Amino acid sequence: MSQELRQRAVEALTAARNRTAVLTTCVDDDDLTAQHSPLMSPLVWDLAHIGNQEEQWLLRTVGGREALRPEIDSIYDAFEHPRSARPTLPLLAPAEARVYASDVRGRVLDILERTPLEGGPLVDSGFAFGMIAQHEQQHDETMLITHQLRRGPAALSAPEPPAGSTRGLPAEVLVPGGPFTMGTSTEPWALDNERPAHQRIVPAYFIDTTPVTCGAYQAFIDDGGYRDERWWAAEGWDQIRRHDIGAPLFWRREGGQWLRRRFGVSEPVPADEPVLHVSWYEADAYARWAGRRLPTEAEWEKAARHDPRTDRSRRYPWGDEDPTPLHANLGQRHLRPAPAGGYPEGASPLGVRQLIGDVWEWTASDFLPYPGFAAFPYREYSEVFFGSAHKVLRGGSFAVDPVACRGTFRNWDLPVRRQIFSGFRTARDAAGHEETA
Ligand code: AVJ
Ligand code: FE
Repeated sequence: MSQELRQRAVEALTAARNRTAVLTTCVDDDDLTAQHSPLMSPLVWDLAHIGNQEEQWLLRTVGGREALRPEIDSIYDAFEHPRSARPTLPLLAPAEARVYASDVRGRVLDILERTPLEGGPLVDSGFAFGMIAQHEQQHDETMLITHQLRRGPAALSAPEPPAGSTRGLPAEVLVPGGPFTMGTSTEPWALDNERPAHQRIVPAYFIDTTPVTCGAYQAFIDDGGYRDERWWAAEGWDQIRRHDIGAPLFWRREGGQWLRRRFGVSEPVPADEPVLHVSWYEADAYARWAGRRLPTEAEWEKAARHDPRTDRSRRYPWGDEDPTPLHANLGQRHLRPAPAGGYPEGASPLGVRQLIGDVWEWTASDFLPYPGFAAFPYREYSEVFFGSAHKVLRGGSFAVDPVACRGTFRNWDLPVRRQIFSGFRTARDAAGHEETA
């Protein structure tokens, strides 16, 4: 058991480091140290921050080893320096940052071999190792966002995602009302904000079978959606007026058609692909224009996890097995969402598609603790972000690794954010359908 867990931890840490290497060797040192957007850190900050978090948690706390480079802790403390200020810090140079992260990793693999994976919540089931693998993968997604913001020729490439079609699929699915189990108390590497498992009563609702596509979103644009205050929350209306926003980020209108820039390449906006790079306000406005609303976080999770045949919540829409490339578009295997209607093997019991992977899905909900929440192992992972400032996103994007993605996984961001790999699906009440279960 312990050997199997160790193996899983080694594989998760190694996969994360391989991805970090891809993201930090495909551009030169100038690109690694440049700030491609004030919204993002220089890539070289993420690289050393990954090593520093691993040093703090696995080498010092779990391993009980002496600090390797305590003098750099403050440079890589995300709370001390906002992203926009990070280029002015005395950052490790790219070569130094690589050596540092790899020195930490060498020691950590040694610690992993010697540490019993039981005897306390930090080491039970290898939690801290899983947490650090997830942390690195989350920063890999952050670095991929930086790559998307970066100007200049393409540095990354990947095969196209599998085809998909919505032909024959219903536009929406009815989820009968009733209780379901939200969150988890058993998933070994689930983070603090996903815990504990608890009952939620969710009235009947309809939810879109697939995420909203670029084509559907264009109809909102064409209908003057960005010029009609009726659809917009006050802050969102302010944002689009102030910044003259009239389409998703990275879109531009040219010669009568919509083009977008995607990882250094300009291309026509694909009508059948889930829309990407929209803020919560844009998602919310679209939903209102369509006479619908965003799903709550509980509605999203019930659609993704609840199996009406067994009345049990599962790890993923398709069941309890870990994701394979047939289930979902994850792990930066492709550099874009798959067309709507793809991944039939990843469908939920009620037939909802693409809940996992492709695009992060904005929900109507604020990021709040579950009843019984306990911060672990540090308040700055989740607790300090709880409140009405952040909205919850669910399901993961094509840029999320399976280790950091499951039916219970919760992401959050400010509602103005649109550089993230965010899309959405819509829902509506289904009053009167409670009896159809
Ligand atoms: C959960 C994605 C919002 O990137 O800010 C990384 C993850 N926490 N380092 C973020 C995280 C600490 C976090 N998100
Ligand atoms: Fe971090």
